[in-house]
Amino acid sequence: MSAKKTSHSKPKSKAKSFRPNTMWGGRFKAGPAMIMEEINASIDFDRRLAQEDITGSRAHCNMLVAKKIISKKDGAAILSGLKKIEREIAEGKFKFRREFEDIHMNIEARLAKLIGEAAGRLHTARSRNDQVATDFRLWVRGAIDDIEDGLYALQAALIDQAERHTQTVMPGLTHLQSAQPVTFGHHLLAYVEMFGRDRGRFADGRARLNECPLGAAALAGTSFPIDRKKTARELGFDQPMTNSLDAVSDRDFALEFLSSAALAGVHLSRLADEIVLWCSPQFAFITLSDGFSTGSSIMPQKRNPDAAELIRAKSGRIFGDLSGLLATLKGLPLAYAKDMQEDKEPVFDGFDSLNLSLAAMTGMIATLTVNAAAMKAAAGAGHATATDLADWLVRHLDMPFRQAHHVTGALVALADKKGGALSELSLAEMRSVEPRITNVVRRVLSVEKSVASRKSFGGTAPANVERACLEARRRFL
Ligand code: ARG
Repeated sequence: MSAKKTSHSKPKSKAKSFRPNTMWGGRFKAGPAMIMEEINASIDFDRRLAQEDITGSRAHCNMLVAKKIISKKDGAAILSGLKKIEREIAEGKFKFRREFEDIHMNIEARLAKLIGEAAGRLHTARSRNDQVATDFRLWVRGAIDDIEDGLYALQAALIDQAERHTQTVMPGLTHLQSAQPVTFGHHLLAYVEMFGRDRGRFADGRARLNECPLGAAALAGTSFPIDRKKTARELGFDQPMTNSLDAVSDRDFALEFLSSAALAGVHLSRLADEIVLWCSPQFAFITLSDGFSTGSSIMPQKRNPDAAELIRAKSGRIFGDLSGLLATLKGLPLAYAKDMQEDKEPVFDGFDSLNLSLAAMTGMIATLTVNAAAMKAAAGAGHATATDLADWLVRHLDMPFRQAHHVTGALVALADKKGGALSELSLAEMRSVEPRITNVVRRVLSVEKSVASRKSFGGTAPANVERACLEARRRFL
């Protein structure tokens, strides 16, 4: 069957000649087939490692000079060439070329063009295997720092809103059914806790990844008298990785990053889902700002929460990135295998998805407005203070809780039969179920009284939430 060209096939790179690869082609008579180049090249995505590659090469070069493995003169030429390349990349003038396969060889080839033979000495006592492992660790470390900033900003926006709404009553739900009233501030602070644990997970992973693979060379170490502590130090790592095989072949740091991202994605997705509910006209608890609402091209009345929906969807993408990379790595014998080139795209995609989601969520939270009246009306619906009534029976009539639960259930049924709220039952009606009830009970039936009474540690009482906001500021910001 001949391959039919379709509009969705990507443009192929033109392999003009079949000349052997200048980096590793010594033993070859002919260059790679066009399709080989196509499947082998990673430059289209690993160009994102350019800065880390230059930084790593600089540290390696400094060490080679310090250990007199290369001359000062060659070292100086390499450093000035790298500087020039760094500038070309920053200015968008660098030509990334498929025939040089990946970012490492693109930079080395350019270095050779710029400084000639000395360029060939940079790869002494190094392999692309320890080079890419180093670059990627540096990249993920920077990504963690960006995510940390994003999570921090989101927590700050949530705490700001929570402070405005320590008294705002809303329905607390279980099974999406009215359960007990809570305050909106309390609800938002629940997410502050989740994102706080997410930050902790990223920080844990960062501490574990901060060891340097450079100097592990291809897999076995090197016969040159290198100083791995020096390169590790220069690159901000705590120490060199202990085992050369492990150094070039494990990608657990990438998986840990994606696992943490997936968990943050779960939290973002739940919040996003609640926002979608809250801003629907049926709930009408919140209004998203114009900046975070979209219109419909056919229905003029619509204000759609597209950002929240996309955040909800992007979390699924992050889970895919994680499970894809888990599957890629699980069967690989030590040490390096080219499969591992496929480690980058899921990590880049997971990072991009999470980073953008955090920024959009922060914007939505910071600019939304609350419809306190609608929240309060809904908070009282569904006999949400029935538990307060049962607690009253326990406290004032010394009734066992199970019996109080039963009596309250009968009162709820009576209210339902009359088509009203619990608080609308007359005293006589209440006494027809339990003769010892007095009018004092009315006090516990309001939603404000209900939330104010939830003063146990971690509870929703406005006094608690005010304190919790201060505590959250101290712990997280
Ligand atoms: N582009 C490669 C990667 O990302 C670099 C390492 C190549 N090493 C090798 N032995 N072919 O994995």
